[in-house]
This record gives sequence, structure tokens and C-alpha cells, in this order.
Amino acid sequence: MSTNMRASWGSKLGLVLASAGSAIGLGNLWRFPFIAAENGGGSFLFIYLICTFSVGITLVFAEAALGIKAKSDPAGAFQWISPRLKFIGAIGVLTSAIIVPYYSVVGGWIIAYIVKSFSATAIENFETHFSEFISSSVSPVLFFYVYLISTAAIVYIGIEKGIEKFCKLMMPLLFLLLLVLMIRVLTLDNAWEGVKFFFTPDFSKITGKTMLSAMGQVFFSISVGMGIYITYGSYVKDEHINVSKTMFPVVSLDVLVSLLTGLTIFPAVFAFGLPMNAGPALTFITLPKIFASIPFGQLFGLLFFVILLGAAITSSISLMEVVTTFLCDQIKMTRKKAVVAYTGLCLITGTLVSLSFGKLSGFKIGGKILFDQFDFLASNILMPVGGLLTAIAVGWILGPEKLTVCKNKYLQKGFEFCVKWLAPIAVFSILLNLVGLI
Ligand code: PHE
Repeated sequence: MSTNMRASWGSKLGLVLASAGSAIGLGNLWRFPFIAAENGGGSFLFIYLICTFSVGITLVFAEAALGIKAKSDPAGAFQWISPRLKFIGAIGVLTSAIIVPYYSVVGGWIIAYIVKSFSATAIENFETHFSEFISSSVSPVLFFYVYLISTAAIVYIGIEKGIEKFCKLMMPLLFLLLLVLMIRVLTLDNAWEGVKFFFTPDFSKITGKTMLSAMGQVFFSISVGMGIYITYGSYVKDEHINVSKTMFPVVSLDVLVSLLTGLTIFPAVFAFGLPMNAGPALTFITLPKIFASIPFGQLFGLLFFVILLGAAITSSISLMEVVTTFLCDQIKMTRKKAVVAYTGLCLITGTLVSLSFGKLSGFKIGGKILFDQFDFLASNILMPVGGLLTAIAVGWILGPEKLTVCKNKYLQKGFEFCVKWLAPIAVFSILLNLVGLI
């Protein structure tokens, strides 16, 4: 990104808005419920919360503080720690290049929902036809193009910040709508079964897979492990802002949105007798049922999906930003060329990803269709590896005391301990488990 942009956030508000914009998105409303469902509900929630407020938050603080100090894109920031470490920034670029295509496919589903809810066929029909829709060859691909090109256009024209501010204004509305939906759902018969499923951990069910999935969800949901907060921190002028005070609310808000989503989706799944193992379709088949059960549901649904689209776009912007900044700073491309080149690549990969629900569903890697494989690779492997390397770079090579995240001496010491020991050991052991070594 250009230097004038780098100097442009006068206060910490810019950092908070962009960070919340990146964190809150499809990860909360779409990914969280189905990953939690696949991993036993309560047991998953338990590990997810622990992981967020230990490893996750430590890495968010470390990334933001590093960006504020190094004033550079991720590759430059790691290079600032040691020239040998520049490659860590490149891992973030790869991760982003993998997430953008499938994230945009889901973004396309949202646009499809919005468009279809205007037509005569009611939203309930959309619910019934959802699996037919995502497995068809033309329509979801076209909606994906609309989503991706709109996001790219925002980054190309350079109006991200305006969009972010606007979306943050809409965030309170998202909360309000989620609250109304939750209350509505909780008054339905059988709804408490869903609450129990979500809140009762069965410790005997916690396996290596639960841990890996929970950790992947934490990284994905708070957007940590690929240098986003390094980039955003680098735009902060004031070196003395209190990083923990600034970033803690971002992480907490993100968790809160996921909790509200869980408390809406799971009770509805039980109340309406929907399939818990619906996978990526879960939110999309559950919400229309809820809307159909409330007065003015169609209007309500429309408003909800429009806001969700805004939340998804601000996350996509942050993902595109990583690659754009990298191509500009490291390969010296112009910003516009970088956006066009990257969008072209994503159009191709995203088409394949979208088709993996239909025509290409027979093409599997490691037993997973392309969509699932992209998601697994990015969230469960690349982002944790990025986080692990960040913790090692900050904790062992730079020295954690070089980054001040809290004014309070004890909290600062706690942070230093977590970056140096807790985060690397925790992430490493969970990853080791993946390769079957423990
Ligand atoms: N955190 C975003 C969400 O919850 C997704 C995202 C992942 C954004 C990684 C940037 C980086 O939707």
C-alpha cells in the first residue's frame, strides 16, 4: 500500500474499525455453526473459547504491535526482525489466495439469496432448493463472479475505508437482528435441546480433530496468522497506543457474534428438525426457516442478508489487501495492476471451487472436495503455521519485550510468556497431532 495510506490513520479508531471489519464476517455466521455441529457442539465451544482467549488473542496482540513498530507489510515486518524471515509474510499471501476463492463462492450464495428473495418464489423455496442451487453449474458461478468483482472494484477504486465505516455503523443492527432471531427461536418447542447441545461439553468426545477444528476456527474467525493486523498496525501513526486495550474488544466482539449465531442456529435446528450435518449449507437452510416463522419474515431476511453481505465484503477486503500490499511492496506492481492480476487468478480457482459442489464433486483430494480442501488447508494448516512462525519470530528472535502491548507490568509479562511459550507449544502440538505423530 502507498505510503500516504500508511500514515493516514491518525487514531486507533481506524485500526479498530478495519480489524473488526476483517474479523466479523462469514466466519461467524456461516462457518462457526457448521464446524461446531461437525465437532460435537459443546465440546467444540469449550476448546474454541480457551483457544481464542489464550493463543488467538496473544497472536492478535503480537501482530498488531509488530505492525505498529515495523511500519511495514508482513514480509517487510518479518524482514525487519531478521532478513531470513521474510518468507513468513509470503505464507500469508498464499493463505489469502486460497481463502478468497471459496469465501467469495459463499459470498455469491448470499447475493443469490438476496436476489431470489425479491422474486415471486418465496425464501422457503430457496431453502428447499439450496442444495440444488449450489450444485448447479451456472448460477452459483455467476453469483460468485458478481461478489468477487464487486469486492475487487472496491479495492481497485480505493474506497475500502468508506465501506468499512458504513458497515460498522450497520454492525449494531446486525446484533439487534441476531438478538431478535435468537429470542424468536428460543420460544419454539424443542429449542432448549439446541441450547443444551451448544453449551454442554462432553469431555470424552474431545479428540485431536476437535482441537484442530477449534484452533482452525479461531484463526479463521479472528483473521489471525496471515499478517492482517501487521498490515493494519502499520498504518497507525501513534506508536504508544495501548495495543491490548484496542484489540481486546475486537476479539471479544467477534466471539460474541459467534455465540449469538450458535444460540440462534442450534435451537432452530432442533425446533425445525433440520439436519445437523448439513455442512456448509447449515446457516443457509436454517435462517430461511426462522424468517418464515416470523411476521414480515421476508423483509427481515432480506435486511439480514444485506448486512451479512456487508460484513462478508469487509472481510474479503482485508484478504485482498494482504495480497495487493504484497504485490505492490515486494514485486513493485501498481496497486491497480495487482488487483486485476489477483482477481483474474481468483476467478479461475473460484470457478473450480464452486463447481466442486456439482460437476466436479467427483474430484477429491485427500477425500475432500476442492471447497472443503481449500478451507481445511487455509484454516487448519496455513493460518496456524503462520501463527506459529509469528510466535517464534517475536518470542525467540525479536524478543517479546521489544513489543509493548499493555501498560500493566503483569499483563505485559503474561503476554511475553504466552508468545514465547504458550502459543508455539499449543499450536505445534495440535499440528503434530494432525500428522499423527502424537
Ligand atoms: N475472519 C473473517 C470471517 O470471520 C474471515 C477472514 C479470514 C478474513 C482470514 C481475513 C483473513 O469471516
